[in-house]
Amino acid sequence: MTEIKLTAAELIRAAIEQAYGQAPFARDELAAMLEYPPDENMGDLAFPCFKLSKTLRKSPVMIAEELSRVISSRDFAKVEPVSGYLNFFVSREYYEEKIIPEILQKGEDYGKSDVGKGKTVVLDYSSPNLCKPFHLGHLASTMIGHSIKKIHQFCGYNCVGINYIGDWGTQFGKQIAAYKLWGNEEEVKKGGVDELARLYVRINNEISGDEENGIAPRKDLADMARAEFHKLEEGDKENLRLWKWFVDISLEECNRTYKKLGVDFDSYAGESFYTDKMPAQVEKLREMGLLKIDQGASIVDLSEYNMPPCLILKTDGSTLYPTRDIAASVYRYNTYDFAKCIYVTASAQCLHFSQWFKVVELMGYDFYDKLVHVPYGMVSIGGEKLATRTGNVILIRDLIDAAVEKVTAVINEKNPDLENKEETAQAVGVGAVVFHYLLNSRIKDINFVMDDALSFDGNTGPYVQYTYARTCSILEKAGEYKAEKIKITEKAEEDLAKILSRFGEAVENALNDYEPSDITRYILDVCTAFNRFYHDCPIITAEDEAEKQTRTALTKATNTVLGSALPLICMKTPRKI
Ligand code: ARG
Repeated sequence: MTEIKLTAAELIRAAIEQAYGQAPFARDELAAMLEYPPDENMGDLAFPCFKLSKTLRKSPVMIAEELSRVISSRDFAKVEPVSGYLNFFVSREYYEEKIIPEILQKGEDYGKSDVGKGKTVVLDYSSPNLCKPFHLGHLASTMIGHSIKKIHQFCGYNCVGINYIGDWGTQFGKQIAAYKLWGNEEEVKKGGVDELARLYVRINNEISGDEENGIAPRKDLADMARAEFHKLEEGDKENLRLWKWFVDISLEECNRTYKKLGVDFDSYAGESFYTDKMPAQVEKLREMGLLKIDQGASIVDLSEYNMPPCLILKTDGSTLYPTRDIAASVYRYNTYDFAKCIYVTASAQCLHFSQWFKVVELMGYDFYDKLVHVPYGMVSIGGEKLATRTGNVILIRDLIDAAVEKVTAVINEKNPDLENKEETAQAVGVGAVVFHYLLNSRIKDINFVMDDALSFDGNTGPYVQYTYARTCSILEKAGEYKAEKIKITEKAEEDLAKILSRFGEAVENALNDYEPSDITRYILDVCTAFNRFYHDCPIITAEDEAEKQTRTALTKATNTVLGSALPLICMKTPRKI
């Protein structure tokens, strides 16, 4: 909640008491009722008085009139009753005396909160299935997850980022079979993950065949892959060696990409880590009478909750994806005592999470309501589904390289003498990609178009990073300023101060809704307001000293807010571009 909402709410509370001799509403309750009016002629905050009429037994119009008469405060230039609403107009003094000095004084702590103090949050994100190409589909989970982590840290939570790598499962049977059939050590050493992908795609293609071209499916290869996985599960030495080797190669490739993206994890405990932790949970399910045998498989019946059954064991007794997630949640709760455990995956997995969350509840684990699934929309390329098999994928690595290459070309043209050219090109290229991913609300489907992601016009990563660099360069040239000497005279100055005052609220919304795009859109609002201000109000060449000081202070405040906000969406803040 912003300070100004609380201030207005307290004024309303006191006014009700004064006008009607009673105080039936608490300040925070009133604060939650305040709205942002759609149009600035209606003020900065609006209070809908109809919410009080039942309690106060008066018409909203009357309440608005009567309250407006008793409210007066230096923080508001006027408080106007308009058809049952009480419209609050924030005064310039409020920004001059409170907001801007607060930003300057708090610096990088401005906008932070301590709601998370003493609490631990576990975040499960990225979590790619290894041995498959690390492609665009994984970028959303990676960036949304990491951003949500940063937002939680900013709000005082202790965060544990877990990359729950898919390092176990039948795909390893395929990989091992393909390697034994067509691969060799030298080629894999040389080609790394690309060679593994080539083998993997080939065996998948041969298993499915190609009906149209008269190529029959190879059932024998499917059997062979299953047998290799079975051997792996039984602890066969050679297969374990190959598995470990493939996992390492695959993870190394992912780590190179994480490094470029500025993403890191506190744990890589993946699916294989939970192999020995599942039996105890399966046993508990059995003891509690929750397991049912259905055509040989063991399931938990969820028909009472309008969901298909949750599969726990296959007919051959092997475990499944939900089994592992259940065991992992118990382990994580015991290990980290989390206040929340957040899972970031594609919305295609919504049912999976609803199912096993329910099972955890039925098992009597009281942490079931601390599990949070954060889904995001479908990622497609040119309108088509991503598919490793058909090759309709773009590797994250290739996307980043293309972006950095494009930025390098622009820098070479416009600013060839820039210091740290390579580092800056990396920061801006990666920033362009990340910004593109975190601009829209996460649940919206993404149809990926390369040119859009690499565009530098309009609302893009390069635009906001450039705006930040602009504040840096102005501050280098401008002289001293004093926080006590701020005097707002122009509308563009006031609008900028207003948006800066809302940073804390943007963070709070992003935190509560697990929505990085709240921050992204907020950043765009700040940039728009700053660039308008920069255009309308000369800073270095301001007419008098007072004006120059005010504008320099506003620039510093913008620099501070952007400097904190950009990292929340995993963007770097180069001082020069
Ligand atoms: N490896 C899975 C996939 O690529 C995502 C794992 C998400 N995390 C989880 N705990 N299930 O689809």
